[in-house]
Amino acid sequence: MTILLTGGAGFIGSNLTKQLLQEGKQVVCLDSLDSYYNPDIKWANVQQSLDHPHYHFHEGDIRDAELVNTLFRTYAFDAVIHLAARAGVRPSVQDPALYYDVNVTGTLTLLQAMQHAGVKKMVFASSSSVYGDSLQVPFTESDPSDRPLSPYAASKRAAELLCHTFHHLYGFDIFCLRFFTVYGPNQRPEMAISQFTDSILNEKPINVFGDGTTARDYTYVEDIVNGIIQSLENLRGFEVLNIGGSDPISLANLIQVIERVVGKSALINRLPMQPGDVQQTYADIRKATQLIGYQPTVRVEDGIKRFVAWYLVKYKTGLVI
Ligand SMILES: NC(=O)c1ccc[n+]([C@@H]2O[C@H](COP(=O)([O-])OP(=O)(O)OC[C@H]3O[C@@H](n4cnc5c(N)ncnc54)[C@H](O)[C@@H]3O)[C@@H](O)[C@H]2O)c1
Repeated sequence: MTILLTGGAGFIGSNLTKQLLQEGKQVVCLDSLDSYYNPDIKWANVQQSLDHPHYHFHEGDIRDAELVNTLFRTYAFDAVIHLAARAGVRPSVQDPALYYDVNVTGTLTLLQAMQHAGVKKMVFASSSSVYGDSLQVPFTESDPSDRPLSPYAASKRAAELLCHTFHHLYGFDIFCLRFFTVYGPNQRPEMAISQFTDSILNEKPINVFGDGTTARDYTYVEDIVNGIIQSLENLRGFEVLNIGGSDPISLANLIQVIERVVGKSALINRLPMQPGDVQQTYADIRKATQLIGYQPTVRVEDGIKRFVAWYLVKYKTGLVI
């Protein structure tokens, strides 16, 4: 099986690449190594697989239709796993046009190239942020998702809608996976768990937005990778699926867990809630369990231990933060 993996140099993509290669799949990675965070980190991720005979890396932009079409002519793809995006809620408030361009136009470019090439299977990385400030928890896939709070969330919802259109018009099989805050090895450096771990270790103050009661359904990257692969194996029709840990933790408790694992106390710099942030996220995963057999296995305490262990080793390379 040959897969086009967009965004494969990033956090989730690099973890997924390892697993796909281990399972004997051919992985063609398309990634622009963009500058949202240090591209050296992404390049180091790519280098881990470069020697593998079933791995091919192409540096380029998903919005470059000519390049994308060439890839479809060069390889006989069986499916596309589309992770490439401008991620991050808060920065999207500052640059909505860029987020829309990459996340929506980029997705459309890819869908059109697939249509031309007759490749009709895609797993798309969506986000729990599409639920906005939904009061009803846990979030189920049938909940309203038409009140996004950030350009990032709006762009992910818009891309989901395009996926449905291509399913309807051309019979694509597409699963849109709504990931709930992902963490683990190769974590994006700007994400809370990376920032908190680094600051606690180095006795620097951490910025805590709000009163600590905001809660996130943190999901260990290994569980996300399993959800993606299980989706690929069961890809039929159009589905939206929550892929989360289904075990939310408040910001205050998360900080305590990191403090315990690191063995140091946090110095807290309290700041107001950020525009675009939601109060809580909590995945109802019954649909994913039923449809693809998804079941998260790593609890936050254990996941943070594994993350910090990775962090301490990787810290010496200077490529974590
Ligand atoms: N990490 C999370 O908590 C989380 C939660 C929900 C959804 N997601 C989604 O999962 C996907 C992967 O997220 P991640 O955390 O690994 O982020 P990441 O930033 O580490 O990975 C995204 C990758 O896409 C690449 N990219 C960006 N713009 C591109 C473009 N125009 N063309 C080609 N490549 C481009 C980047 O270089 C990067 O390597 C994204 O779509 C993200 O929105 C992530």
